[in-house]
Amino acid sequence: MYVCLCHAVTDRQIRQAVCAGACSMRQLSQELGVNTQCGKCGKCAQQVLKNTLAELGDQGQKAA
Ligand code: FES
Repeated sequence: MYVCLCHAVTDRQIRQAVCAGACSMRQLSQELGVNTQCGKCGKCAQQVLKNTLAELGDQGQKAA
């Protein structure tokens, strides 16, 4: 699903960026360009970021 139409960024790309170490909207903006044009994708991108960080956190706890 496309999250950011201005830069054609999908939720999958955001997830990959978060898995690769991006942990804030600022980092996602720098890496993928989300939320840097019209700003409509901000909320959705933040949600994907939050969900992915939560998933990674769960995995981290299981691994620990
Ligand atoms: Fe992401 Fe416009 S949809 S900046």
